[in-house]
Amino acid sequence: MEGYHKETYGASWAPDYDEIFATVAGAMIERLVEFGSGGRVLELAIGTGRVALPLVERGVDLTGIDISREMVERLRTKPGGDRIPVVMGDFSEVPVEGNFRLVYLVFNTLFALENQQAQIRCFANVAAHLEPGGRFVTETFFPDLTRFDRGQRFGALAVEVDEVQVEASRHDRTRQSINTQRIHFREDGLKMYPVRVRYAWPAEMDLMARLAGLELESRWGGWDREPFDHQSQIHVSVYHKPA
Ligand SMILES: C[S@@+](CC[C@H](N)C(=O)[O-])C[C@H]1O[C@@H](n2cnc3c(N)ncnc32)[C@H](O)[C@@H]1O
Repeated sequence: MEGYHKETYGASWAPDYDEIFATVAGAMIERLVEFGSGGRVLELAIGTGRVALPLVERGVDLTGIDISREMVERLRTKPGGDRIPVVMGDFSEVPVEGNFRLVYLVFNTLFALENQQAQIRCFANVAAHLEPGGRFVTETFFPDLTRFDRGQRFGALAVEVDEVQVEASRHDRTRQSINTQRIHFREDGLKMYPVRVRYAWPAEMDLMARLAGLELESRWGGWDREPFDHQSQIHVSVYHKPA
């Protein structure tokens, strides 16, 4: 996907992001409140505030980072969205002052970083901004290569009277990258929502964490602390900085 860069996701998805991803799991909010309450919390890639706003409503002291002006403009229009401090920049650099009790990065967004080097940099910078005993919580998909047939996948996400939504992906297993276009067809035309990810295996993430001086504390198959096993589609991984 030539021409795809760090700002492309937000520029393409922002107008419709909250409609496409309308819900947020209650259990995610509960776990993040548990880990973050009483300390400073940082969300990497805060986007439109889908996760941040419910946390702030629960009294969490939250700061965000994002690179997309369009996504953060959406956040600013929502009740309470104008009161959350947001630093504009690349979250792998963690360009903020001070330390945090909890840093979190959900919805596969670790994989938005273009390669292993950028992901290693992210872990290292997060570790440098955690207070002793603080936690870094990630939520990512558990790569499932059986989804691809000779490096590609095409599928219908929704078929309605007035709309069809499809998804086309190409997988490059040498780079561990997946380029996807989600396409919505309506009578008045079509819209494209591109996304590029560089996935990492759970063990690879643990190694990145160890390089940064963090330790894996828990890994769940979901936010309700479901066991993580070979059938899990996602994993929630909790890393902590030794006190
Ligand atoms: C899938 S959205 C997730 C937003 C929010 N965390 C949520 O769960 O709704 C991904 C976000 O990551 C941001 N993003 C992608 N790459 C980034 C980077 N390198 N630095 C900062 N933000 C980035 C995008 O602008 C977008 O807002």
